[in-house]
Amino acid sequence: MLDKIDQLSSQAFDELNGVTSQSELEAWRIRYLGRKSELVQTLRSLSTLSIEERRVVGARANQVKNSLEKGAEEKLLSLEQSLSQLTSPEKIDITLPGKKIPLGRLHPTSQILEEICSIFNNMGFQVAEGPEAEWEYYNFEALNMPEGHPARDMFATIWMDSNADTGKGSMLLRTHTSPVQIRVMEDTKPPIRIIAPGRVYRYEATDATHEWMFHQVEGLAVDKNITLADLKGTLFEFARRLFGMDRKFRFRCDYFPFVEPGGELAIDCIVCKGAGCRVCGNSGWLEVLGCGMVHPDVLRYVDIDPEVYSGFAFGMGVERFPMLRYGIEDIRLFYSNDLRFLGQF
Ligand code: FA5
Repeated sequence: MLDKIDQLSSQAFDELNGVTSQSELEAWRIRYLGRKSELVQTLRSLSTLSIEERRVVGARANQVKNSLEKGAEEKLLSLEQSLSQLTSPEKIDITLPGKKIPLGRLHPTSQILEEICSIFNNMGFQVAEGPEAEWEYYNFEALNMPEGHPARDMFATIWMDSNADTGKGSMLLRTHTSPVQIRVMEDTKPPIRIIAPGRVYRYEATDATHEWMFHQVEGLAVDKNITLADLKGTLFEFARRLFGMDRKFRFRCDYFPFVEPGGELAIDCIVCKGAGCRVCGNSGWLEVLGCGMVHPDVLRYVDIDPEVYSGFAFGMGVERFPMLRYGIEDIRLFYSNDLRFLGQF
């Protein structure tokens, strides 16, 4: 009888350990301490035992009953405590669904820059960089625009104060990425194949297609026997890789003092499908880049012999590509930091 009581006790405590709710505790209590439980039945049947046995078995059964009741009380207390932890206002309610964390993403300009650079990398061009605060010499003079040259007016310039007498003129915020051409040719001998992505600045009024700060990617190739056909082939291949075969490209003459001959590439306007709108200035075309064969005088500035070497160069307006691809009607959306716009890319 004593063994049976001990076995019952250890079984009851084992099960009590596994109890996790008040309803489970109540079921346990009925099973081991209720009127019909084995333990209570044992106590009731003491009268059938001898006086000596009754004393020993009764004492053990009472002892087990008391310790089970104490165990049940402690369990109830710990269940109540963990429940109050869950519902207390200072505690975290782990049953609530989690908060969604909005994911950041790359700015549409960064995305298109990565795409442009990757296309040119695959065509054998390396990335070069130059400073945004630039000397007059690199931005104008070495690009065949000496002081007083009327073509400087094409590039509305933001000038900076500079007291340094470096022989390179005043400082300015570069108006295009073309100064990187000079910096690269000063340091590198042909063959050269580079692209130079970066910010440029113009002191001009903004409109749907013009910002005062925008991005350009410059391209430069200098080697023996480089011709206009190489320039056209490179640009058409680039445009095809970026836009696919379905878009129309237009190549026309243009003037820049640092190239001869000069040209521009335009792409048909996706916004109006050629009918005319404010993005394309009602022409059906959006100019995306200026280009040409590097002027012999520019090569002479950097000690490259134009009788031996020739080169082509181009400078593209980066924001205009996503405008054409997605039908974005106003370039000013790029830098007004409206998350409703930026979140779409
Ligand atoms: C230049 O900046 C020349 N440096 C390009 C060049 C390089 C010509 C090498 C020849 C050889 P342009 O000012 O046209 O050229 O600008 C080039 C491109 O930048 C334009 O085709 C246009 O796509 C973009 N762009 C020009 N001005 C703005 C502006 N205010 N806002 C946004 N994009 C502009």
